[in-house]
Amino acid sequence: MKMMKAMKTMLLWLLAAFMLCGLAWNAQAEVLGDVRFERKTKGDEDFPPAIFSHWNHRVKFKCYVCHNKTVGFEMKAGSAQITMALIENKQYCGVCHQGQPAFGVGFESCSRCHRK
Ligand code: HEC
Ligand code: HEC
Ligand code: HEC
Repeated sequence: MKMMKAMKTMLLWLLAAFMLCGLAWNAQAEVLGDVRFERKTKGDEDFPPAIFSHWNHRVKFKCYVCHNKTVGFEMKAGSAQITMALIENKQYCGVCHQGQPAFGVGFESCSRCHRK
C-alpha cells in the first residue's frame, strides 16, 4: 500500500515537471520562432520565401549581434527590406552569410534559406 502511494506521488511530480517544461518551451517559441519572410519584390512569387530560424542562430549569437543599428534587424518580422543584391553586398543576412562565419550564397545553398 505504501508502495502505491509513493508511486502515485512520483507520477504527480513527473506530470508537473512535464507541464512546466511545456510552458517553458512555449514561452521560448514565442520569442524564438522561425521568421518566414514575405517576398517584397515582384516577379519571383513562385520561388519559396526565405526562412530564418531564431532558434538555430540564438545558440550561436546574442540578440544584439543582429538587433543593432549596423546590421539593422528590428524586433518586428517583416521590417527589413532584404533582397539578394543586399545580401551579396554583405548586408543583412550577408553580414555573416558570405562563407565565413556562415555558408555563402551559391547554387548549392539557395534551398538552405529558401524552403517551403
Ligand atoms: C542572427 C541574427 C539574430 C539574432 C542573434 C536574434 N535575432 Fe531576432 N530577428 C532576427 C531577424 C532576421 C528577424 C526578422 C526581422 C525582419 O523580418 O525584418 C528577427 C525578429 C525578431 C523579433 C520579431 C518577431 C516577430 O514575429 O515579429 C523579435 C521579438 C526578436 N527578433 C527578438 C530577438 C531576441 C529576444 C533575440 C535574442 C534572444 C534575438 N531576436 C536574436 C535576427 C536575429
Ligand atoms: C543566407 C540566406 C539566403 C541564401 C543562401 C539565398 N537567399 Fe535568396 N533571399 C534571402 C532573403 C532573406 C530574401 C528576402 C526575403 C524573400 O524574398 O524571400 C531573399 C530573396 C530572394 C529573392 C527575391 C528577389 C531578390 O532578388 O531579392 C530571390 C529570387 C532569391 N532570394 C533567390 C535566391 C537564389 C536563387 C539563391 C541561391 C543562388 C538564394 N536566393 C540564396 C536569403 C537567402
Ligand atoms: C550574425 C551572423 C548571422 C546572421 C546575421 C545570419 N546568420 Fe544564418 N547562420 C549563421 C551561422 C554562424 C550559421 C551556422 C553555420 C553555417 O551553417 O554555415 C547560420 C546558419 C543558417 C542556416 C542553416 C541552419 C538553419 O537555421 O536552418 C540558415 C537557413 C540561415 N543561417 C539563414 C539566415 C538568414 C535567412 C539570415 C538573414 C535573415 C541569416 N541567416 C542571418 C550566422 C548568421
